[in-house]
Amino acid sequence: MSRAKVVVTDYIEPDLDWEAGELAKRDIEFAAYQLKFAPQEEVIAAIRDADVLIVNMRPITAEIINALERCKLIIRHGVGYDNIDLGAAAARGIRVANEPEYCLEEVAEQTVALMMACARGLFQSRHLLELAVEKGQWDFSGLRPAHRLKSQTLGIIGCGRIGSRVYHRTEGFGMRRIICDPYLPEKHLRYLGIDRRYELDELLAESDIVTLHCPLNDETRHMINEEKLQMMKPSAYLVNTARGAIVDTEALTKALEEGWIAGAGVDVYEIEPPPGDLGLLQQENATLSAHLAWYSEESGWQIREDILEDVYRCLAGEPPLSTINPQVEQVLGDRVYREV
Ligand code: NAI
Repeated sequence: MSRAKVVVTDYIEPDLDWEAGELAKRDIEFAAYQLKFAPQEEVIAAIRDADVLIVNMRPITAEIINALERCKLIIRHGVGYDNIDLGAAAARGIRVANEPEYCLEEVAEQTVALMMACARGLFQSRHLLELAVEKGQWDFSGLRPAHRLKSQTLGIIGCGRIGSRVYHRTEGFGMRRIICDPYLPEKHLRYLGIDRRYELDELLAESDIVTLHCPLNDETRHMINEEKLQMMKPSAYLVNTARGAIVDTEALTKALEEGWIAGAGVDVYEIEPPPGDLGLLQQENATLSAHLAWYSEESGWQIREDILEDVYRCLAGEPPLSTINPQVEQVLGDRVYREV
């Protein structure tokens, strides 16, 4: 029997020496490539005989999946998985996994950082400091109004893994916290100690800070559009560390320009990296970060460990911790049935 083989299509780490060493200890063959932009034939030639495929940004199309000869698992290095054809993998009996746990704390922390940067006008404050240094005197005439967070309302849209961490982290601020999450199980609501969930429009109208933590899908794409932004208070802030396309960027830019809301804290964009003419870049009341909410030294290591755990589970015949194409179980079940 040939050795099990793990192949990486593309990666963001400086090197994968740690993975190579760990897999070698278990006599597992390992090959890592940088094929993010490579032609499809080159990708197929490199990954054809993989038992486990690890993918970062490389699109994994049905053609690539159909060329896999013995693959049992495709692991997406990260949370989102729109670059992998899940249906094609399921049809071939290949499980697809993501790694949803590695950066929950970091994203919650970045959310609070963006909230605070907006509410305290941190970036404007630096600008005022620079002006004062230049002029040799303080000039606060352009100061934007700031409000004490205590007793203000924080609205959390999507209160799953990250949203509920934001809920816990903001406990000490003395804010009233409300949530909108039509799909959150009652059990989870009770665990958070929340007695009611709000409708989206109601939450938008009542919140001083609105933060987004739902997935991007057909229901949530452009969920925050012109109409919804106009429902928010003129003194409110919108924070988005979830996915860019949940918000209509043009509408948000207009809202910031015309003062429908006081500002926004944004980590994620509809097009990434965003084009140079992104209107948000011109808005002084937009606090922007570079889709780095996931990042820390700890999360960087945690995802590497989580991925290897899924590799070992797969090679031991077990499913990964998070299967994102559950329809595969039907195909795998039918296969066992046929083999019996
Ligand atoms: P999760 O699946 O644990 O929670 C999502 C929650 O949204 C669930 O409770 C679900 O019921 C709720 N939801 C679904 N549809 C909704 C709707 N229409 N309205 C309101 N709530 C709705 O997901 P998790 O792990 O908390 O991730 C949240 C977001 O954070 C995702 O969009 C993910 O892509 C993003 N993310 C961003 C990162 C970054 O670096 N900026 C890194 C990791 C995740």
